[in-house]
Amino acid sequence: MRKRNKLALWLSSMCAIALFMGLVACAPQADNSADQNKGADEPKEEPKQVETPEPDKFGVVTAEMWKDIYPNEYATYEENAANSPDSGKHNYLELYPALNTMYKGYAFALGYDEASSHLYSLESVKNSPRTIEKEQLANCISCKTPQFTNMVNTEGEQVYTEKFNDLINEFTEPISCANCHANDPQSLTVGNQFFVKSMGGDTKNVPMEAQVCGQCHNEYYFDPDTKATSNPYTGTDAMTPDAILAYYDEMGFKDWEHPDTGAAMIKVQHPEFETIYGGKQTQMAKNGYSCSDCHMGTTTSDDGTEFVSHEWKSPLENQELLDGDCKNCHADLKKQVADWQAEEEERVTAISEKIGDMINKIAEQKDSLPEDQLAELQKLHRTAQFYWDFVMVENSEGAHNPELTFETLDKAEAAVDEALGML
Ligand code: HEC
Ligand code: HEC
Ligand code: HEC
Ligand code: HEC
Repeated sequence: MRKRNKLALWLSSMCAIALFMGLVACAPQADNSADQNKGADEPKEEPKQVETPEPDKFGVVTAEMWKDIYPNEYATYEENAANSPDSGKHNYLELYPALNTMYKGYAFALGYDEASSHLYSLESVKNSPRTIEKEQLANCISCKTPQFTNMVNTEGEQVYTEKFNDLINEFTEPISCANCHANDPQSLTVGNQFFVKSMGGDTKNVPMEAQVCGQCHNEYYFDPDTKATSNPYTGTDAMTPDAILAYYDEMGFKDWEHPDTGAAMIKVQHPEFETIYGGKQTQMAKNGYSCSDCHMGTTTSDDGTEFVSHEWKSPLENQELLDGDCKNCHADLKKQVADWQAEEEERVTAISEKIGDMINKIAEQKDSLPEDQLAELQKLHRTAQFYWDFVMVENSEGAHNPELTFETLDKAEAAVDEALGML
């Protein structure tokens, strides 16, 4: 595997030096216990002595401040600028017309575009019709800036209940170093405490290189009482579509009520972490790969320094990675992924049309249906759309976990077919 040999060599030589100098213990550190897996948590450069620059008023050392200390990581981080909202992003409401019916009554029906890079997180949330046309709470700023994360961590959860517009203009730093490294880029730290809590004991079982991404790329909801950003599970076993739906059903949770059918709806958000690490996990997760192994390849600077690229991009756009490690097992990964994605796309579209059709039929017959039958149809609407959305809003279009993707779409389709059979 790509990094192991190099790292093993590097680690053993570091150990030799450390033993010689009597400086550092070579036993894994406490938070490194996931390291039976590949690639987890080892420093990629010899730890260098650095002086931490002055943090801003939120306690955040900004990316700009690290520029001269970590020039390679900073330069590749800045390359994310190319993945901008103006770079030809999909408008999902146009791409999937049935979404206008499915998300009706909810903010996502106002505007829903494909994501951009981390550098635009603040801009995107400020410019979204979802926050312009509707008054939102500050909990919408979760995962958009380390400055808000620090505010929640120091001032407490009541910050979530403040008004979005009262706070948003205080923040200047998009997603950056501090989100994943706190103020020490030589280590990885999960800033979002809600996610640490939701991992339960499994913080020990999943590589930190995945948890730092998972702290934002996950399914969350706002607690109805405290408005706090929360996840519908504790521990990875409970991170499956079935268990998540059961959790929401049990607490009687809804994000909104659908105006046409009266169903109590759930809006799913980007469950990348759950799709890979939830339940029985993907093949690649079992092989010990984390998000960074596929999305942050190792690369070499002009002066020959090896470092981890901080331009977060598709592994399919990283020829060096494809021709290197991936090639060992995937003769043509691009084709394999394209096939999974084409099947996903076709089924997501077909099922969205069925759900749209079901909604219209329920709406037409609503007033004449017996109460118990309507209740059953509303439940089927909630269930079908939840499973469908779980796949739709996961950003890999099926590539992260083809098996789970198609199983989940089967469940969506079974529910919508059952409803159509009753109408
Ligand atoms: C979204 C999370 C995230 C952000 C934001 C982030 N990093 Fe990293 N960084 C990582 C991960 C994950 C690794 C380890 C990657 C690996 O080992 O495969 C890493 C590794 C590093 C390393 C280890 C050395 C190496 O080989 O590159 C340094 C130094 C570093 N990052 C600096 C920075 C700086 C400076 C910034 C801001 C300009 C930054 N990082 C922003 C996630 C992040
Ligand atoms: C602090 C929260 C946060 C963390 C940590 C984080 N992300 Fe993100 N990520 C986001 C948000 C929010 C967006 C969408 C930004 C936008 O559209 O403005 C995004 C966008 C992306 C995109 C671009 C999506 C596209 O369609 O072009 C990729 C790729 C990505 N993230 C991968 C990662 C990886 C890999 C990690 C871990 C190394 C990570 N992210 C960590 C919040 C986060
Ligand atoms: C085994 C490799 C692998 C792992 C591990 C992995 N991804 Fe991906 N990811 C992919 C592939 C392949 C795609 C589809 C790329 C495409 O369509 O070009 C993708 C797509 C994405 C996208 C959509 C943006 C884009 O560039 O297409 C995001 C966001 C993302 N992954 C985040 C994550 C996060 C967060 C994790 C960890 C929780 C993760 N990925 C783990 C392989 C991986
Ligand atoms: C040691 C062999 C091996 C290596 C190396 C490897 N893969 Fe895989 N990968 C597999 C196997 C086996 C599967 C299961 C599906 C299949 O048979 O193709 C898989 C599946 C996947 C999937 C689908 C999700 C899943 O986990 O089932 C993605 C995406 C993927 N690999 C991406 C990558 C990328 C990107 C690389 C290079 C960074 C890579 N793989 C390197 C063996 C490997």
